[in-house]
Amino acid sequence: MNKILVSLLLSLGICGATQAADLIGNAAAGQTKAAVCGACHGPDGNSMAPNFPKLAGQGDRYLLKQLHDIKDGKRTVLEMTGLLTNLSDQDMADIAAYFSSQKGSVGAADPNLVAKGEALFRGGKLDQGMPSCIGCHSPDGAGNSPAGFPHLGGQHAAYIAKQLTAFREGERTNDGDTTVMRSIAAKLSNKDIEALSQYIQGLH
Ligand code: HEC
Ligand code: HEC
Repeated sequence: MNKILVSLLLSLGICGATQAADLIGNAAAGQTKAAVCGACHGPDGNSMAPNFPKLAGQGDRYLLKQLHDIKDGKRTVLEMTGLLTNLSDQDMADIAAYFSSQKGSVGAADPNLVAKGEALFRGGKLDQGMPSCIGCHSPDGAGNSPAGFPHLGGQHAAYIAKQLTAFREGERTNDGDTTVMRSIAAKLSNKDIEALSQYIQGLH
């Protein structure tokens, strides 16, 4: 395949084999190193508890950035205190590759909130200058792995709601100098967050 076609397919997220070969780390080596993570995130990255994010199928660049941010204290995850201290950059890249190469499971959305959630996700709030989510996280919630925009589809609603609230309240600040997620979340009410989180949980 020529390069342009490959990058087009990659940006559409439909070129699985090429994407796997494109992982920064080594997924096979990562599986062993990820054993300790499985207790909370699930052995294959599909966690059962709604407060523990699913990592399966998440973009490896996004996962690796979060691991560095958590390790360096730029994002606080008390449950993971000390767990990353002895991991090298290569270890974290391998672990990110492992979870990224697993298939993510999808949940179900509260049917009463789907319409509102979908309208916000796909349309944003134009009157308040808030963009839709699909430009970065894609219409099916798959995100944009090369760009580091996280995959959201199928993620636990409780976890999504916690992140959107944390961005809005300035408790999560690792979205970079553009403060992209903090500015977006600033426009969301609690009811908006509830609807978006439900919609995302069932999205695939
Ligand atoms: C004791 C439970 C626990 C263990 C063990 C654990 N984590 Fe976590 N992890 C969490 C929680 C809770 C969060 C979400 C915190 C929040 O709400 O912001 C999280 C968040 C993350 C995130 C961010 C996900 C996202 O979508 O932004 C990554 C990546 C991650 N963990 C990777 C790991 C890896 C790799 C390991 C093993 C080295 C590990 N975790 C071990 C509890 C755990
Ligand atoms: C201009 C691009 C852009 C737009 C538009 C956008 N996001 Fe994001 N979003 C990002 C980036 C980049 C991150 C990762 C920040 C980081 O590195 O921690 C992110 C992170 C997130 C996270 C945290 C994911 C996790 O696993 O912890 C959630 C939830 C989220 N976005 C939801 C939304 C929703 C809902 C909308 C629409 C209302 C939206 N985003 C619009 C770029 C965007």
